[in-house]
Amino acid sequence: MNHKFATAAKVLGGMLAIAMMPAHAADPVKIGFLVKQPEEPWFQDEWKFAAMAAKDKGFELVKIGTPSGDQVLTAIDNLSAQHAQGFIICAPDVKLGAAIAAKARIGNLKLMSVDDRLVDGAGKPIESVPHMGISASKIGEQVGSAIADEIKQRGWKLADVGAISISYDQLPTAKDRTSGATAALLAAGFPAANIINAPQAKTDTENAFNAANVAITQHPNFKHWVAYGLNDEAVLGAVRAAESRGFRTADMIGVGIGGSNSAKNEFAKAQPTGFFGTVLISPKRHGYETSVNMYEWIKDGKQPPALTYTTGKLMTRQNAAAVRADMGL
Ligand code: GLA
Repeated sequence: MNHKFATAAKVLGGMLAIAMMPAHAADPVKIGFLVKQPEEPWFQDEWKFAAMAAKDKGFELVKIGTPSGDQVLTAIDNLSAQHAQGFIICAPDVKLGAAIAAKARIGNLKLMSVDDRLVDGAGKPIESVPHMGISASKIGEQVGSAIADEIKQRGWKLADVGAISISYDQLPTAKDRTSGATAALLAAGFPAANIINAPQAKTDTENAFNAANVAITQHPNFKHWVAYGLNDEAVLGAVRAAESRGFRTADMIGVGIGGSNSAKNEFAKAQPTGFFGTVLISPKRHGYETSVNMYEWIKDGKQPPALTYTTGKLMTRQNAAAVRADMGL
């Protein structure tokens, strides 16, 4: 190759490389992490691991609590005004999906979702938004199996046992979790008529308490109770409601999903409670990995995996430390 040609090719190559650089590539990388319930330990852990990714990769993380749709839209405007290049969101309502995606596009922000998958106007998942969530049905089944095993262990007569399903069906991952638990209980021979649907108005402990309280009041026939729901907070609400009605440790089996501080504090109590166990899921993967994916998408144009489902592991008071260590927590 002659010298002149080689130089021209080099210059052209350089120009092409500049033209192909992602927008804002010269700005320092800034990534938003928006969560629906910043007070919940799960989301605090997610943020903690996102911050770790920011430190490791050298980008700026902007954590924003967005419990309402208005706050989500304002937060996206702010991110765009501060020249952030992308954000990860667990939205307060997955039906905001289309609005969030449109707003991100206008603000020139890359978008990923975590935990709760965004849906369009027809309720279908928005497949163009990369997502990381838990394998909800499978984890729900783990909850149901754990409860069924413990009922057997305690030698309870099935006719005497009521099951409280703390439900929040408008959120697909919640519905999949409780349906999975119900399916596993039924498969283990638990009577369908003894499963009581207890919808919670909001996904916190207080609303779960109220839902469970109604269920217990309306079914004075049961001698023992079991409970499951979307997360640890839901099950803790049911456990507290059962306690307040005299169903204490020996007569209650609650199995949650999460394993963050809510569960840790419960296990740390001197005496065991009706909160028998939880399926530990990974805030590290959800916080750290999504942040790194977003960073590499911005920095190198590397498209994140379209869909990632993470797994969980049953954790009880007895094996909590080992299971947490096993998950790198
Ligand atoms: C939902 C729940 C959270 C947590 C995450 C895990 O967002 O509301 O409590 O369980 O899923 O993905």
